[in-house]
Amino acid sequence: MLGMTTTILKLLEQRFKAAFEKLGFDASFPVVLHESSKPEFGDYQVNGVMAIAKNLKANPRELATKIVEQVDTKNVIAKLEVAGPGFINITLSNEYLNQVLNKDLLKVTAAKCRKVVVDYSSPNLAKEMHVGHLRSTIIGDALVRLYEFLGHEVIRRNHVGDWGTQFGMLMAYLVEIKQDNSDITLELSDLEDFYRKAKTRFDEDQEFADHAREYVVKLQSGDSKILALWKQFVAVSLDHCQGVYDRLKTKLTREDAVGESAYNDLLPMVVNDLIAKKIAVDSDGAKCVFFAPGELDVKDETPFIIQKKDGAYLYSTTDIAAIYDRVQNLHADHLVYVVDARQALHLKQLFAAVKKAKMVRPETIMEHVAFGTMLGEDNKPFKTRSGDTVKLITLIDEAVQRAATIIRGRNSQWSEIEINKLADVLGIAAMKYADLSKNRVCDYVFNFDKMLAFEGNTAPYMLYAYVRISSIFRKANLPMEHYLNHQVIITQIDEHNLAVHLVKFADRLLQAANENYPHYICSYIYDLAVLFMRFYENCPIMKAANQKQHDSRLAFAALTSEILKVSLNLLGIEVVEQM
Ligand code: ARG
Repeated sequence: MLGMTTTILKLLEQRFKAAFEKLGFDASFPVVLHESSKPEFGDYQVNGVMAIAKNLKANPRELATKIVEQVDTKNVIAKLEVAGPGFINITLSNEYLNQVLNKDLLKVTAAKCRKVVVDYSSPNLAKEMHVGHLRSTIIGDALVRLYEFLGHEVIRRNHVGDWGTQFGMLMAYLVEIKQDNSDITLELSDLEDFYRKAKTRFDEDQEFADHAREYVVKLQSGDSKILALWKQFVAVSLDHCQGVYDRLKTKLTREDAVGESAYNDLLPMVVNDLIAKKIAVDSDGAKCVFFAPGELDVKDETPFIIQKKDGAYLYSTTDIAAIYDRVQNLHADHLVYVVDARQALHLKQLFAAVKKAKMVRPETIMEHVAFGTMLGEDNKPFKTRSGDTVKLITLIDEAVQRAATIIRGRNSQWSEIEINKLADVLGIAAMKYADLSKNRVCDYVFNFDKMLAFEGNTAPYMLYAYVRISSIFRKANLPMEHYLNHQVIITQIDEHNLAVHLVKFADRLLQAANENYPHYICSYIYDLAVLFMRFYENCPIMKAANQKQHDSRLAFAALTSEILKVSLNLLGIEVVEQM
């Protein structure tokens, strides 16, 4: 059975491991197994034999030959071949492929299911959501879907910045302009504009700035009037964010927004705990966690400040408290932070501090899923012509509008309603896919034309591939689901290659989750679409030799289509039936 317990990589590994045992190898010798990079190297390749030979002072090719003789190939492997200095090329048997190519390919479960908290999006509420929040939202949402698909229990946490000094400024400005009965929603209809005006007042007017600081103190001491105002402000901001999340079709809801303020009550305890454990120490009145040189794998040796001299708590303190909550109250065993790469030091210090304080269990996994900056065409951080940050909603609107123009050009007979409906899906899909298909660690250049192109590894290409395959069934009026379990027969190389790729689905998803790399899914489905098209050209369904072959080819189409759909959904992209 594939999926639940054994993926193809696992299965091959077991077979080789058993051969290693028979040859009396040390149990620590790894089976280094990879997908082959070229068809002439078979489907998979073992390339760790040279290292073992070195260890045993043996001839690598001879050793590889000995291993090959011991590997149990039954049902799974058609051919094993020693190549080059001691590589072993593996070709999977068609018998095996026939057997596993069915609906069960789509059942992929993690070896161990965990309770995972994914911290993502997390904008600061003082401002409107801008392009800087796009990547965390998109990548985080894809990871949430992937983890859930694999059977993990996922808790989403939108760690919004809803506390801190900038709120004093906003409160002061709100009080200044607010006519007694005026509607706060109206005044905050343009948060960005509101923030700018408040900031101008703050910078220009000393009295106003003093007011602002007073409001911070009042807010923190729980002054009910100021607190009520703050609550309204937060509510309006969160509504705005939710509008963006819904538009982007993310899974985030209002319940997931557990902002910095939610941890206020825990802050004194957290600081005291770290002091009691002598992990935080006094430094000029401030409370800091120091790390010995080399303790963190960074050059920067700035301490992790958890309380300022004036007693104020910081971003760091809240994050420690959030970990306490996630581990102690939510019982999470895996914490994921989808946060800009520029916060790497903060997260390293955070993880190290809570480990030292034993606030997490030794086996608790904490990961910073870092991502690079979104750049404009000029390779500089994405800005408007006038140098302002771009509002996220404006960017989404433009993507959808551009998608509509493209669709209108391609389908002259469509109604405006049909065009707009598809444009909404396509525009957003294009933005998501462009982001997710790149290695998240790198900066990436945001380009509407590229992401909306129908060629290459793009959303339009993938959605179109899906539409073409499902139209095979629609045109012939055949139920696709029926063919998902139809027996395949492999006679041609393009069938074999497509089959092998389909079988890789489980391993690729697990790898994507292991490394938090959604782009693995994108390259998988892109290759899948390319392989399918090659198969479709060379193994025409209508020209099948007999009914069995005809049905087998439809089974290939059905499985490809289903895997495309599931994968796109994992990326937060809905498929369409027409394009
Ligand atoms: N609000 C922060 C910012 O805009 C991001 C928060 C990320 N999450 C966290 N737990 N620190 O930079």
